[in-house]
Amino acid sequence: MLVSVLLTTLKTTLGLVGLTAGFVACRLSLAFLREWRSSARLLPGPPTKDWLSGNFGELRDNPDAEQGWIARWGRTMRLRSFLGLGIVYTLDTTALHHILTRTDIYQKSDGARFSLGRLVGPGILVVEGEQHRQQRRIMNPAFGAPQVRALTSIFVDKSLQLRDLWAAQTTETGSANVEALSWLSKATLDVIGLAGFNHDINSLGGAHDELAESFERIFGSGGEFSFIRLLQMLVPWFRRLPIDADTSVLDAQAKMKSIGRRLLAEAKREAVENGTFETGHGRDLLTLLVKANTSKDIPDSQRLSDEDVIAQVPTFLVAGHETTSTAVTWALYALTQHPDIQAKLRAELLSVQTDTPTMDELNALPYLECFVREASRLYAPVLGTGRNAVKDDVVPLGTPITDTKGNVVDSIRVKKGQPFLVPIAALNKDTNIWGPDALEFKPERWESPQPPPSDLLTTAIPGVWGHMLTFLGGPRGCIGFRFSLVETKALLFTLVRAFEFELATGEGGEKLEITSRGNGIVERPIVKSEMEKGCQLPLVIRPVGSQKQV
Ligand code: HEM
Ligand SMILES: *[C@@H]1O[C@H](CO)[C@@H](O)[C@H](O)[C@H]1NC(C)=O
Ligand SMILES: *[C@@H]1O[C@H](CO)[C@@H](O)[C@H](O)[C@H]1NC(C)=O
Repeated sequence: MLVSVLLTTLKTTLGLVGLTAGFVACRLSLAFLREWRSSARLLPGPPTKDWLSGNFGELRDNPDAEQGWIARWGRTMRLRSFLGLGIVYTLDTTALHHILTRTDIYQKSDGARFSLGRLVGPGILVVEGEQHRQQRRIMNPAFGAPQVRALTSIFVDKSLQLRDLWAAQTTETGSANVEALSWLSKATLDVIGLAGFNHDINSLGGAHDELAESFERIFGSGGEFSFIRLLQMLVPWFRRLPIDADTSVLDAQAKMKSIGRRLLAEAKREAVENGTFETGHGRDLLTLLVKANTSKDIPDSQRLSDEDVIAQVPTFLVAGHETTSTAVTWALYALTQHPDIQAKLRAELLSVQTDTPTMDELNALPYLECFVREASRLYAPVLGTGRNAVKDDVVPLGTPITDTKGNVVDSIRVKKGQPFLVPIAALNKDTNIWGPDALEFKPERWESPQPPPSDLLTTAIPGVWGHMLTFLGGPRGCIGFRFSLVETKALLFTLVRAFEFELATGEGGEKLEITSRGNGIVERPIVKSEMEKGCQLPLVIRPVGSQKQV
């Protein structure tokens, strides 16, 4: 009896393992077949000995490798990933324009959509095709300039709250040590709570908030490796199983959904009772979505379901919170590296007569604009993104290249399934585009009437903002770039007027060296000698006008 049960279990297990192995083998064969038939295989590119993670293993250990590869192999190359399978890497702006605008062909990979969709549901970051067009159409107006103008007082209020918290720490000694990344992360979380869902998370005030805790639990574990997750990415059938290594993540997801449902219900009430957002009510993104959904211009078939809108709650948190806090943290870091720029920026900001500027007042400050552009260019929080061709295609190249057979080609023939890497940060620093001083931090480069310096290639950079790729471009470019830029300016305006910033020193008074580390979404600062502490930016702040203690 027992033996037969055991035997049956064994058979089923073996059967499943066999099926899985078969499926994986089949997928891999298809990938190799695609590779073999595609002209992408003939692109030059760095060799690798790492059969498991390919060139990406090297990149993880040595981020500078990328610049070396570009110098050696050119601006369009083939990188090798898992089992040596090729990924097309290109800085060619004609090719990038094609990839970013033809969203019918170039989409997020099935695996990437699965891993994110599992965590947030069918939000705008995850969906493709018609579903994406539909969501984007209803969501675009919520991120327009008038809407962001109405949200600016939230950005400013939260900035002032952070300023006062920091100021309170400086009163005793005249200076204070603050860890900028974690503080800014709280500030931007509070901002997205209020501006996104009219929900006061109040993490700056030290409050415990269900929404923030669920979010933290879902994404805190998202990056961990698990075998079942790998299987689910490779074999779609496994995705039907409600398995999660950590059941607390499932709980947190359920909680997140129920909070989303509650926030949506409130937004619906708000949208019905309060007509205009100019009064300060109903100006949050969620309420704007509910209102847009009722617009007469939208055919009934195009309206958003409740589930779609609820999925935007964690989506806005993922897309809008750590990205902006990372951007502002790097901007403060840049100020510590360039005291002259810090002084020049502060002088401009102090010339403004109010502590509570409007969006238009912030946008009228020319040096702040140049500074934010330069910080966004050199410290793009999102280093790059991936796309897969969903059908065969020919990618045009602006600059012909010589393939490994010695032929000069002006396009790449790719097969369905071909993965691409869009190198956001590398394009922002490309000396071909920005000139020999591309790696230098120079806000002044934006002062010339026709920025940036070389008109040759830059007009072709297919970015949604600022002639750069920081917020990507095309129909899937960042929807929140205006929101983020005004929020960034409000934080910098308030903090740089109030404090002088310096990088903290180590325990023995030694200079700290800052490098960066990615978490799968953003690239954040980390102290070289304190890697075990995780990402951080320790600063010394002094109230503006106080004497420096020697
Ligand atoms: C400095 C801050 C930010 C940076 C660097 C940034 C960057 C990006 C990038 C690179 C993408 C494209 C991702 C991809 O397709 O692979 C993106 C998409 C997106 N971003 Fe941002 N973002 C920032 C702030 C924000 C904010 C504040 C919000 C919302 C309040 C936001 C909402 C979104 C959304 C919803 C998408 C998906 C758009 C779509 O797929 O149609 N982002 N962002
Ligand atoms: C609508 O706006 C008024 C003030 O304009 C406010 O008192 C009220 O709470 C708002 N309604 C809802 C449902 O939030
Ligand atoms: C959008 O409108 C449809 C049709 O009126 C409605 O059923 C749906 O609940 C609305 N969705 C949201 C999120 O308001």
